[in-house]
Amino acid sequence: MLQAQGLKKAYGKLVAVDGISFEVNKGETIGLLGPNGAGKTTTVSMIAGLLAPDAGQVLIDGKPVTGDTNPVKRKIGLVPQDLALYDELPALANLELFAALYDISGAKASKAIDAALELVGLRDRAKDKVATFSGGMKRRLNLAAALLHDPSVLLLDEPTVGVDPQSRNAIFDNLETLKSRGKTLVYTTHYMEEAERLCDRIVIVDHGRVVANDTLAGLYRRLPATNKLLIDLVDGSKLSDPSALKAVPGVQSAELIGNRLSVWLKDLSDGAPGVLAWLATGGHPFDHVSSEAPNLETVFLTLTGRSLRDS
Ligand SMILES: Nc1ncnc2c1ncn2[C@@H]1O[C@H](COP(=O)(O)OP(=O)(O)OP(=O)(O)O)[C@@H](O)[C@H]1O
Ligand SMILES: [Mg+2]
Repeated sequence: MLQAQGLKKAYGKLVAVDGISFEVNKGETIGLLGPNGAGKTTTVSMIAGLLAPDAGQVLIDGKPVTGDTNPVKRKIGLVPQDLALYDELPALANLELFAALYDISGAKASKAIDAALELVGLRDRAKDKVATFSGGMKRRLNLAAALLHDPSVLLLDEPTVGVDPQSRNAIFDNLETLKSRGKTLVYTTHYMEEAERLCDRIVIVDHGRVVANDTLAGLYRRLPATNKLLIDLVDGSKLSDPSALKAVPGVQSAELIGNRLSVWLKDLSDGAPGVLAWLATGGHPFDHVSSEAPNLETVFLTLTGRSLRDS
């Protein structure tokens, strides 16, 4: 459905996108994940045809997205990172403007606007000025604006930034509805929980390059140890050498801080019983056991050596 091939873009000396390629199948949702400045918005802008790449091309259904009047562009809807709304106009008038941009008018426009407002749950606020909307409502209207021409590919550039949890959930529900209608979604975010919830596949971008392109399960398989077992020992000082736990099958590494023992395991079911038995028979009683599943943050850290959030 969508192919980004060798996209490059430099701003002066700064190379923002340095050869990004990926494909998205019809009906698939991919997450474009990366820290601030990774080149996500620049990539999405090139896919939407708003920014001409220095090199590479974008294909939709095998046809290149180029030029201002290219009909291929109509297959794409963009929900921009920066809100593109007129605060002093009612929601309805904003959507009428967007419809006009796509040459949709009359009954066709009314129908499209009504359906979009219905989807994002803003029908009863249609006549109110955008200035009276909450941040979350503005984000939802921003999404509605991108849907009017019924695009088959929807590019969402951090659509939940500055949004309260309730609106965030509403936006997620909207996106799940669109997904179930067979839309192809490219979801840009630096929130790993969002990508984990919504996306079939994740493309991780860092410094303008793709560092991984895989399903969640596939990404997790790349981790040296995917699960962390946390054990609160009754008396940590009695365990003088936690690295001795590496003798237990499936244990990758172990660390003791105070009474808290952390053990990294390739597989929780295979490894945990042995660890607990080793502690019990070795005279190290414990009073609490828990585990942490791997997440994209761990994947990102492993792939780039840096944290996703604060890099
Ligand atoms: N119009 C521009 N002029 C100059 N430099 C730019 C411009 N737009 C982006 N950049 C730079 O290009 C790099 C990539 O920016 P981009 O906005 O694509 O990143 P991003 O991954 O979307 O980041 P964020 O998570 O903050 O939105 C950054 O270093 C940014 O400063
Ligand atoms: Mg951005």
